[in-house]
Amino acid sequence: MKTVGVGLLGFGTVGTGVIRLLNQDQPQVEQSTGYHISIEKVLVNNLNKERKINIDKHLLTINPDDVLDNPNIDIIIEVMGGVEQTRNYLHRAFQNKKHVVTANKDLLAVYGPELLQAAKDHGCDLYYEASVAGGIPILRSLTDGLAADRIQKIIGIVNGTTNYILSKMSREPVSYDQALGEAQSLGFAEADPTSDVEGLDAARKMVILSHLAYSIPVDLDDVTIEGITGVEREDILYSQKLGYAIKLVGVTETTNGQIDIRVSPTLLPSTHPLAAVENENNAVYVYGEAVGETMFYGPGAGELPTATAVVSDLISVVRNLSLDVNGHHIFIPSKEKQCVSSET
Ligand code: NDP
Ligand code: HSE
Repeated sequence: MKTVGVGLLGFGTVGTGVIRLLNQDQPQVEQSTGYHISIEKVLVNNLNKERKINIDKHLLTINPDDVLDNPNIDIIIEVMGGVEQTRNYLHRAFQNKKHVVTANKDLLAVYGPELLQAAKDHGCDLYYEASVAGGIPILRSLTDGLAADRIQKIIGIVNGTTNYILSKMSREPVSYDQALGEAQSLGFAEADPTSDVEGLDAARKMVILSHLAYSIPVDLDDVTIEGITGVEREDILYSQKLGYAIKLVGVTETTNGQIDIRVSPTLLPSTHPLAAVENENNAVYVYGEAVGETMFYGPGAGELPTATAVVSDLISVVRNLSLDVNGHHIFIPSKEKQCVSSET
């Protein structure tokens, strides 16, 4: 069996999940792609940090060149986060004819169109299913499942951390800080959770969804954003008494060519399906002109749900590499040759 070389940028919550899944499901991945996946290098910040799973220490590096310029790597999985430096790394990856899978919504919300174009220019793939709603395959559903429809509106709970905090505070006598601390230790929160609690993470996801739904670039600066830092436990309990739940909800809609995107804490009647979305779960309603209303639900953050989206993207990239338009195998792994360009 041929081998595809994979490099990771990052080995935190999501990176650990990716390695765990690949270790566990290698036979399934081999069966579905026809290729063995070999982890060649993993970029980290700190070589001495204790890791949650065993990994060959020789795979770890603090030198990005070991991944970006590595001739044995065909596909790069970016799960380190960050924006400007990561943007440069991805451009270098494409220049080196390496395909990329990323979970990085911060990057995609701002540089998504630019990076997709760069990937295309170099005949490489850029997949990013994990960047929105963790384990829910919402991006695929928009680009494939609903490709025939005209999307008018999307409403969703797309941040696991804030939903965890709000639902925890509604059920138990915990403070905001305690609930946030739990979300952090469970691996749901961003490295800097300010973007979660101030609504920016949800706004970035709504921008990515809007870009895919309406096929035009959308500016993050145009989103109206309010987070949950002003929500007190008393507000939650009082709303409950009145028959409402407070949720951080994102809305994007298009009317007469104008796009309106907003994220804010919202009072939902307790009978509304979104009111029943608890903990780190996410839910996304998509309204299409022809299909009407569809709803997607599942875990929106955390190690394995997010890793599932990343590894599924990896499988898609390997499948794309493997077949030409006639369904014939054409991919020659990098140990023999770099990835093929789209023209071949
Ligand atoms: P973590 O903070 O847990 O892990 C980040 C990893 O990247 C660490 O291994 C860290 O190294 C490494 N790293 C960070 N910056 C650098 C750098 N400049 N150079 C080298 N290595 C670096 O993050 P997560 O795994 O939680 O998230 C990763 C990405 O996935 C982010 O973009 C996040 O937004 C996204 N995401 C996260 C989800 C989640 O549920 N956690 C869900 C969906 C997307 P070291 O370990 O040595 O510190
Ligand atoms: N911090 C993010 C969240 C991770 O809580 O939703 C998943 O994107």
